[in-house]
Amino acid sequence: MKNQLSKFLGKTAWALEAPLFFLFLADIRRNKMITEHNGYEYKNNTIDYFMNAVIDASLAMQNLINSAEEFGLGICPISMIRNHLEEVKRMCHLPEGVFPIAGLSVGWPDENNEVSIRLPMKVVFHEDFYNDKDMIKQIGHYDKTIECVKPIPKSKQRHVNVYGFNKKNTWSENISRQMSLTERKEFKKWLKSHGFNLD
Ligand SMILES: Cc1cc2nc3c(=O)[nH]c(=O)nc-3n(C[C@H](O)[C@H](O)[C@H](O)COP(=O)(O)O)c2cc1C
Repeated sequence: MKNQLSKFLGKTAWALEAPLFFLFLADIRRNKMITEHNGYEYKNNTIDYFMNAVIDASLAMQNLINSAEEFGLGICPISMIRNHLEEVKRMCHLPEGVFPIAGLSVGWPDENNEVSIRLPMKVVFHEDFYNDKDMIKQIGHYDKTIECVKPIPKSKQRHVNVYGFNKKNTWSENISRQMSLTERKEFKKWLKSHGFNLD
């Protein structure tokens, strides 16, 4: 299965070199089957229950991540799997109402990297009221820290084919570049063709 999957993943094929590769499935099918089996009409093929299913799968993934890391294993979540939903669906016999939110590589790490420096708490945590007054300033500090401690290598600059190489190779520059081009344009259409009404 991993060999087949790695053929679809192209540049991300390295993710399948790990001994284990999990797919985390958002599943609205199960409750639909239960409801209909008990003689009721299923009326929650909605965006809200779609979100519940995605949250359930995300929490399961995070739990596996925590447990794996507790044992000294390394992990890497892989969204790239969503670029190949049709192939994955066929390969893994995914019925309508079931799709992989992400993959997860799990294996013994070759090397022990430092944990990446995370965004400052001031940016991601809001006490009582949402407040992004200083957000851009804080991100500026964060960019400087990353530049000093672990600069983003040129090879990881996003969309150089569109924007060229940029001297300002900061974290926020890279995120901005990534966010400036739409990814997975076909995702919603695919979901709708696969049992998710998203009402
Ligand atoms: C849900 C999710 C999906 C991701 N998908 C991919 C992916 O498809 N390809 C990739 O190279 N990195 C992907 N990443 C990023 C890596 O898994 C990892 O987070 C990144 O290398 C930075 O890790 P660090 O912040 O712990 O250093 C994803 C991360 C998350 C949380």
